[in-house]
Amino acid sequence: MSELQDIFYNRPHKVCQKWEHYFRVYERFLARFRNRDDFRMLEIGVSQGGSLDMWRQYFGPAALIVGVDIDPRCKGYEGGRTLVRIGSQEDRGFLRSLLAEFQTFDVIIDDGGHTMAQQVATFEELYGMVRPGGIFLTEDVHTSYHEPFGGGYRRDGTFMELAKQKLDELNGFHIDLHRDRFGPFFRNTFGISFFDSMVVFEKEVVPSPRGVQAGQGA
Ligand SMILES: C[S@@+](CC[C@H](N)C(=O)[O-])C[C@H]1O[C@@H](n2cnc3c(N)ncnc32)[C@H](O)[C@@H]1O
Repeated sequence: MSELQDIFYNRPHKVCQKWEHYFRVYERFLARFRNRDDFRMLEIGVSQGGSLDMWRQYFGPAALIVGVDIDPRCKGYEGGRTLVRIGSQEDRGFLRSLLAEFQTFDVIIDDGGHTMAQQVATFEELYGMVRPGGIFLTEDVHTSYHEPFGGGYRRDGTFMELAKQKLDELNGFHIDLHRDRFGPFFRNTFGISFFDSMVVFEKEVVPSPRGVQAGQGA
């Protein structure tokens, strides 16, 4: 059992629900940030405050952890270096107010309402807030296939279609035709990882690719 699973299953915290395999993904991408004094994290979706408690125990007392929820009762989970802001992740003006207040985060997790409008607006507005070396992680992307959330298999406008477009953009250094349309994404994204129900973007300043050769012989 990983330490994050130990916190989730065995240590005291408020109610928190996750898909079991998420812990493997969290450990793979988030362990590097543990116990760093300057670590800053934003999680969309506070619900009953359980994940804020879990992240606090995982990342340590110095971490700045900001939760966002549309439900004003979530303000009650604020305390110490855990802050809560109330607003809708679909409201681009509200998302920009987060940028104005906090400027940057190392990790942004979207575990909010999971509709297409919410996931797309949140990624489009907040990806720029992730520091180089940081992570943007969208959860429950299976809603891209569920009509009540605005999803549908390969339907335009879903979060998964956006993520697939970003896969093309990741190769932007090598695509002459549309490169100008791509914007800065391929220059500041090291990789995109897809898992069941999750997409993870790794932010990094990416230099132009350089072919290298080594070895002896003719
Ligand atoms: C899955 S729960 C979050 C669970 C929490 N992260 C945890 O693991 O304990 C989703 C939350 O998103 C919130 N939510 C729904 N629509 C939202 C919106 N438009 N903007 C912000 N939060 C929203 C809900 O109020 C709910 O608390």
